[in-house]
Amino acid sequence: MKILVVGNGGREHALAWKLSNDSTKPELFCTPGNAGTAELGTNLTFGATDLDGIKQWCIENQPGLVVIGPEAPLCAGMADVLEAEGFRVFGPNQAAAELEGSKKFAKEIMKAAGVPTSAYETFTHPDEACAYVRERGAPIVIKADGLAAGKGVTVAETVGQAEIAIRNALEGSAFGNAGSRVVIEDFLMGEEASILALIDGENVVMLASSQDHKRIFEKDEGPNTGGMGAYSPASIVTESVLKKVKTEVYDRMLTELKKRGITYKGVLYAGLMIDNGQPSVVEFNCRFGDPEIQAILARWDGDMLPAINALIDGTLSEDLIQWKDEHSVCVVMVAGGYPGDYGKGDEIQNLGKANAVDDTVVFHAGTALDDDRVVTAGGRVLGITSLGTDLPDALSKAYIAVETISFKNAFYRNDIGHREIKRL
Ligand code: GLY
Repeated sequence: MKILVVGNGGREHALAWKLSNDSTKPELFCTPGNAGTAELGTNLTFGATDLDGIKQWCIENQPGLVVIGPEAPLCAGMADVLEAEGFRVFGPNQAAAELEGSKKFAKEIMKAAGVPTSAYETFTHPDEACAYVRERGAPIVIKADGLAAGKGVTVAETVGQAEIAIRNALEGSAFGNAGSRVVIEDFLMGEEASILALIDGENVVMLASSQDHKRIFEKDEGPNTGGMGAYSPASIVTESVLKKVKTEVYDRMLTELKKRGITYKGVLYAGLMIDNGQPSVVEFNCRFGDPEIQAILARWDGDMLPAINALIDGTLSEDLIQWKDEHSVCVVMVAGGYPGDYGKGDEIQNLGKANAVDDTVVFHAGTALDDDRVVTAGGRVLGITSLGTDLPDALSKAYIAVETISFKNAFYRNDIGHREIKRL
């Protein structure tokens, strides 16, 4: 069977890796892919949001499955377009993907559903937004309403910072159309964790817990990034937290979505803040987390295709997914300067040696092929992912591999998993 994976990041390389190792040995295509996916199958040249190009390729090549990785094509309705042509698609339809496409919509659904989340208001006028912030005080969170490639959130420590963020979004062009409305939320205390769930429209199966590290610098300092590393499982997510996430978050969301005539089929990512054992939702994403999925897939025992097929067929159940007892970690290597400006086209060395480290896979994110050289092509370049008997064991393997790899201005955090290590 032919499988097409849409996207070109670390998430898509990890998905392509897992699917290409399936016991049914599918033929893998990725569009546009990266240097890592090129080793697993064929990279196509369509951009991830080229709905017409991808639809035409599907009509001509009849893949048995299309896995849509990133939020942009999902929010643009790629699943709807391909399903209308009769293709089996993994990824929610456009109406469901709006949970990530509009922060305002996600908050409205959460509020109506009674899902625990912070108080909020939405604004299109900067003076009204600033007045609200002055009344509410800091810290406070300013979010661009639409998709902003992971850059639309400001956690403002002071009212002044909040006002700058508001004016940048509503008066400047910091986020284009995505920032023409802002959602202003109360700051939530606690520790973050990610729970991703597969949903077939009716049944919810939560995946192994994980924790991302969003800030660029160690000790969680500096600006937010797409994610600098993740580990799984995250012990902050206890059995009791998991039960609450299922009943208070996923079940309530599904009931509310159904009430509005929206069917959710795909993965729904709940970014959580956990305070004293009580989870609250910080954000929803309509796709797998990156780098969370690299760490999660390393622990997925056996084939992933049966779960994906069951999700599409509406027969999803817990017994389709087993987890390895081992712990996993993904350490992200970025191009120096990220999440600001960074260089591209720098040769990456020793990938083979790093891949040879025990229980380790080097997932490519921002990489490209330049003749036979692998070069940097994005801010997040690689996600070095290792399994170990415990988190310290996984970390020691991952960092051996990280230190083996070199490219100009490579940068990574040395403290991935620091909260869990402290707990140990
Ligand atoms: N790692 C955060 C995200 O995927 O949105």
